[in-house]
Amino acid sequence: MAIYKFPENFKWGSATSAHQIEGDNHNDWTEWEQSPARIEQLKKEGKDPANFISGKACDSYNRFNEDFDIAKQLNQNIHRFSIEWSRIEPEEGRFDENEMQHYVNVVKSLRDRGIEPMVTLWHFTNPVWFARKGGFLNVDSTKYFTRYVKYVTGHLKEKVGLWITFNEPWIYAGGSYVRGQWPPQKRNLLMGWRVRNNMIRAHILAYKEIKNIYNYYHSPADDSLLDGVNGSSPKNWHEDDTSHNVGVAIVENNVHFVGGKILKVSGIVKLFDNLINLYFWKRTLPYQDFIGLNYYTIARLLGGRTSLPNQEVAEEMSWEIYSQGIYHRLMELKKFKKPIWISENGIADRTDLKRLKFIKEHLYWIWKSIQDGADIRGYLYWSLLDNFEWARGYEPRFGLVGVDYKTLERRIRPSALEYAKICLTNQLEVD
Ligand code: BGC
Repeated sequence: MAIYKFPENFKWGSATSAHQIEGDNHNDWTEWEQSPARIEQLKKEGKDPANFISGKACDSYNRFNEDFDIAKQLNQNIHRFSIEWSRIEPEEGRFDENEMQHYVNVVKSLRDRGIEPMVTLWHFTNPVWFARKGGFLNVDSTKYFTRYVKYVTGHLKEKVGLWITFNEPWIYAGGSYVRGQWPPQKRNLLMGWRVRNNMIRAHILAYKEIKNIYNYYHSPADDSLLDGVNGSSPKNWHEDDTSHNVGVAIVENNVHFVGGKILKVSGIVKLFDNLINLYFWKRTLPYQDFIGLNYYTIARLLGGRTSLPNQEVAEEMSWEIYSQGIYHRLMELKKFKKPIWISENGIADRTDLKRLKFIKEHLYWIWKSIQDGADIRGYLYWSLLDNFEWARGYEPRFGLVGVDYKTLERRIRPSALEYAKICLTNQLEVD
């Protein structure tokens, strides 16, 4: 049997997001899920619209203590969750103290169980008022977002050390503004580009705001908050401070292996890799204390299969499984010389027959990346619970823990118990 040991202090856990588990949200997604056009669209596709309305979800808004008991029982010592902006600021400029207190309680509940919180400030959903103003298309979106970030971090600064401003801004810009699959269902490259840029600016502003709150970033009075957007370094950032860190989670799929020799030689694959995967880091690097990598599958350019044959498919999402791909991504990201968190990695598998193998194979390649110099701090499986999988509704089952959506009962899957052994021993054992 081979044993792969992980570094001391390596963190083990899982991730979730507010809209996917909390239940009873009111945001741009809930409005869209219930809109006549969406329901019509689903009916045309022969689907039951009820499976595509988030509704009560896992009711984790009320059951988070129970969920964290399970995470603790599974030996997890870090947990990533997101704060729902629409709860905190339900109307423009009106901040809800009670809802803020709810998230203070969530963080306390994790801490009481010895689980470190990693807090995502935005995970795909927007308050309705913000969406009506054009969301991230609006040039003022950066101000609105930063004001919200300031409010939240002000309340949690003593209790949280790991912040993720945005989850997968590219996926959002593409899904909502270019491919038209997510609200507000636009198909416009230019809009997608604007949203991307505003999110970059919003991240940089939020980064500075958080640093200000912790008093680690002292911009001179005349220093515009947007200094450095074009690549110049921020001033007076205490690089050696590791107690409060701010980053972004980006999904990176493996493009550079795909496409065949001609594309590879011509540099097109590299160009796409830069555009799809690396561009965001390159534009924002001085404002990232760490890199959050979400990794799931392969992005095949032009359907290319020559340089990488078909891989086994995880059926519920029709995603190819390519564990070695995480190694290739990590070797690229290593060049940025930042700590890296695997902020998501997982498989939708209601049978639970493939999950453990999926986790172990990815962990092997993560371990190998550490041997080859990547500074990886922890692994967060997506997801702790089955949850509302966006436009695909409740069908895909990503959870270490299954959820019966009728009774809301949680059932720990066998793979979760095996993953718990890895978390406990800080090592991977492979026969
Ligand atoms: C997202 C999650 C989503 C998961 C599986 C990630 O891109 O951050 O919200 O559930 O992928 O699709």
